[in-house]
This record gives sequence, structure tokens and C-alpha cells, in this order.
Amino acid sequence: MKNQISRTILDTIGNTPLVRLNKVVAGSKHQFFAKMEYFNPAGSIKDRIALSIIEAAEKRGELRPGGYLVEATAGNTGMGLALVAAVKGYKCIFVLPEKMSEEKRAMLRAYGARVVITPMGVEPEDPMSHYSVAKRIATRLKEKTGNCFYTNQYHNPDNFDVHYNVTGPEIWEQCNGEIDVFAAGVGTGGTLSGVAKYLKEKNPQVKILCADPVGSILADLFHHGKIVDPPGAWKVEGVGEDMLPDNCHLNRYDAFVKVNDEEAFAMTRRLVLEEGLCVGPSSALILIGAMKYAETLEKPSKIIVIMPDSGKAYLSKVFNDKWMVENGLLNPKQIEQAFNIEVKASEEMKNYV
Ligand SMILES: Cc1ncc(COP(=O)(O)O)c(C=O)c1O
Repeated sequence: MKNQISRTILDTIGNTPLVRLNKVVAGSKHQFFAKMEYFNPAGSIKDRIALSIIEAAEKRGELRPGGYLVEATAGNTGMGLALVAAVKGYKCIFVLPEKMSEEKRAMLRAYGARVVITPMGVEPEDPMSHYSVAKRIATRLKEKTGNCFYTNQYHNPDNFDVHYNVTGPEIWEQCNGEIDVFAAGVGTGGTLSGVAKYLKEKNPQVKILCADPVGSILADLFHHGKIVDPPGAWKVEGVGEDMLPDNCHLNRYDAFVKVNDEEAFAMTRRLVLEEGLCVGPSSALILIGAMKYAETLEKPSKIIVIMPDSGKAYLSKVFNDKWMVENGLLNPKQIEQAFNIEVKASEEMKNYV
């Protein structure tokens, strides 16, 4: 019998399921498959890069036992790094912009990390942006302790490498090479760029699609080589950018589709209700982008959509009616209807108790 015991939790990173979507894409001539990254042990696709970045830094001698890890993160990278740090014995400091959910902050603290929050609406170069604050903390800690590594997911090539060496081959094997379109969002660009390079080497006909939130500058850079519309604010976490990370290789992508918050948040709710997939809003945003792109394709196609994380990290947002109404993402009438159904159901229950 094969030994199936993992040496540590880190052995369980990757090999996530690929699941066919049914009801939310009913009527489409295309097939859509979701790569379910919340199956990773700290709950997102970022566990993959956390392990790769830390092990590469260890190999280069830039990080030694007991050292500090510092990162500017939307939360998920922090969770992945904190998981690896717990097993390997590092200390973590994470810098998050204010909009990141309370669940993510609480989880990071639970893993023993120090969490620093920075204000929203500041330019990336501003000394108070989460990038600048993280860099400053890392530089000072390195001077002080001599053992601090700035993981730098936006520009560190070990992020790209793990998606090229591991995520790409995993997807190719899971679908037996039958893939026409690969869709993801760009936070750092590591996922889309790394997987794109691998898939294009296997089959140059595979189309690489970026789903980009309205307000992000990336689609403008792709189409016009410069920013045309000034950057805006959007509520979906983890995707879209106000700067161009080194890991975002625009030359490897074939198309961009813009998606707004309303579309993404509504689809997040449908995915759990109709498919049983409790994923975060960025997963829904990527799916909407893929569905819009699919409408432009004549040939029935197989489309793989990355679903980066779990809806559990957003219970206080997308699954909270009050937050959704306050943020203009849900019509109060829809809650009234839902509430009435709940009341009727519980009144009916009285007959059975
Ligand atoms: C929820 C979520 N979706 C998507 C992404 C984008 O992945 P990448 O950084 O590889 O572009 C991230 C990354 O921050 C994320 O946290």
C-alpha cells in the first residue's frame, strides 16, 4: 500500500481540483472549468508562491532560521507566507491596505503575524502606500537583524517560476491538453504570466485572457501602452492594479475584458448557490470575464478559469446583505424578498415542532 502521509502540511500545496461549471453557464456552447485554489492549505493560490519564494531565498542564503519575512499583501499571500513560516520557524510582518477584509486580518494574526494597515487612495510611490511601508520596514529590520527577507511578490521572479514550473503543467495534465482559453486576473501577474508561458509552449493556439476590474490600469497599458482612464477604486480584492508589476508580462496575454463590481459580486453569490462553490469575488470576476470573452468565439471552446480563493474570507462583505446594500451592490428589495421567504419558512416550521 502507498504511504499517503504528508511530512508536513506544506506537502499538500497544489494539485487542486479542476471542476466543470454547469448551471451558471447553462446555454453556452462552450465548456467552463474552475481550478479550485481554495483547496490549498491556507486557502488560496498564494500558498504556491509562498513556498516557492521562501525556498528559493533559503537556497540563495538570503533567509536563515529564525529570520523575518516582510510583504505588502492583499491578505492571501500573507496567509500562505504565514503558513510556511509556521512550519519553518520564521516571523512575519504584513502590510495591508485598509480595504482588506477583517477575516483576512484576523487569520493573519491567528497565524502569529504582525499586521500593519495603510490608508486607501494613496499613489503607489506615496510613502504611506502599502508597497512603500513594507519596503521601509524590511530595510530597517534587515539593517537591525541581518536576517530579514522582503518577499516582494510583485517583482520576485520566483512567483512567476512556480506557476510556470508547477501550476501550468498541473492544468495541462488535468485537462489532457484540451484547452482553448486560460483565464485569470492579475494581482502580481505571476499566475497569468507563468501559466501562459507553459501553455503557449505546449500549444501556441491557447488564448490567454486577463479579466480586469473597472478602475485598474492594466487593460489601458495592454491596449494603448499608456494609462488613458485615470485609475479608479474597485471593491473586488486581489485583482487589478494601479501600477505594472514585473511579474505581469503583458506580451504573453492575448485579450483583456473589463468587469465591474456589481457583476462580480452577484456572480459570487450565484456560484455558491448554484454550483456549491464558495469562492471569493475575484473568482467570479474572472468567470464573468471569461463568459464575455467566450461570446466572441465561434468554435465551441474549453475554457479554464482560475478561482484563487474562498468565499469564507469575505463573509462580512459579499455574503453580508447590509454591507452589499451600503456599497450599492444589492437592491434592498432583494433582501426584503429573501427575509420574507425566511419568515415564511420559519412560520411553517412551527407546524412541525
Ligand atoms: C484573491 C486573489 N485573486 C487573484 C489574485 C491574482 O494572482 P496573481 O498575483 O498571481 O496575479 C490574487 C493575488 O493577490 C488574489 O489574492
